[in-house]
Amino acid sequence: MTTGTTPQPSADDDYFFEADLYDTLWAGLNKLDLPFFLSTVKEFGGPVLELAAGTGRVLLPAVRIAGTGVDVDLSVSMLEQGRRNAAAEGLDESAVRFVEGDLRTVRLGERFPLILAAGQPLFHCANDEDWAEALATVREHLTPGGRFVSGIPYFRFDEMAKYSERLYLAGEIRHPGTGQRIAMWDYNTYDLQEQSITRRRVSELLDEDGLVTERRHTFRKNYYRYPNEVRRTLQQAGFTIEREYGGYDESPYGPDSEHYVWVATAR
Ligand SMILES: C[S@@+](CC[C@H](N)C(=O)[O-])C[C@H]1O[C@@H](n2cnc3c(N)ncnc32)[C@H](O)[C@@H]1O
Repeated sequence: MTTGTTPQPSADDDYFFEADLYDTLWAGLNKLDLPFFLSTVKEFGGPVLELAAGTGRVLLPAVRIAGTGVDVDLSVSMLEQGRRNAAAEGLDESAVRFVEGDLRTVRLGERFPLILAAGQPLFHCANDEDWAEALATVREHLTPGGRFVSGIPYFRFDEMAKYSERLYLAGEIRHPGTGQRIAMWDYNTYDLQEQSITRRRVSELLDEDGLVTERRHTFRKNYYRYPNEVRRTLQQAGFTIEREYGGYDESPYGPDSEHYVWVATAR
């Protein structure tokens, strides 16, 4: 039974079936990038704007440091999960705001000393125009001298080839609310020309005997960019890259890096 306020599946919400599982699925990310993002909050202060902050995985601990923050996200279901997480942590709407919006077009009429984009949401940008719009949004919301901090994985097809066009078990989890067993299988296709990855995820609900009680296929397409392309795009959009790293451990960036992480200011 649904109510008027319960998020419904929609074409704009490709996180609909993932929102309540997101924090369980991606808990491992916290070890990777959270200490880095929180160190930038300690250094540059708030209020913090996180573009595509989703369930608040990074934003909520950031708000604990900075005092206030805003999550702008396209997915109503991710925002709903973020609100639930904030309430569970005792944070109220005066500390953290959840705004439904597109990072390419949103205009809050406010400026922030720190804007984060964690979890590579810029890889939802399909083309140069999307990137230009996303970076214009960042410019519009930065205070003079404010920082834009984000990162991307360094995509290497050699390493990804083993996942290409084959179905593999991505993992099994238990639903954090219901305890239901969920097995997830992924089938990825890569378009090296377009620089895109399309993931078909097959999610199976299992009973305790391992019998599949429900199976769902969902699709998500992301567009990757190489570090040099991102660096050039940032510079063309009028950003100065103040620091760049090859990982969230602040190791130097180089050809063998696994990530490209930056702290930028708008000229
Ligand atoms: C991988 S999640 C990252 C969430 C969060 N930043 C984190 O690190 O846990 C990507 C998020 O980007 C959001 N998203 C995708 N395209 C967007 C857009 N054009 N504008 C705003 N949010 C978007 C999705 O709804 C999702 O919440």
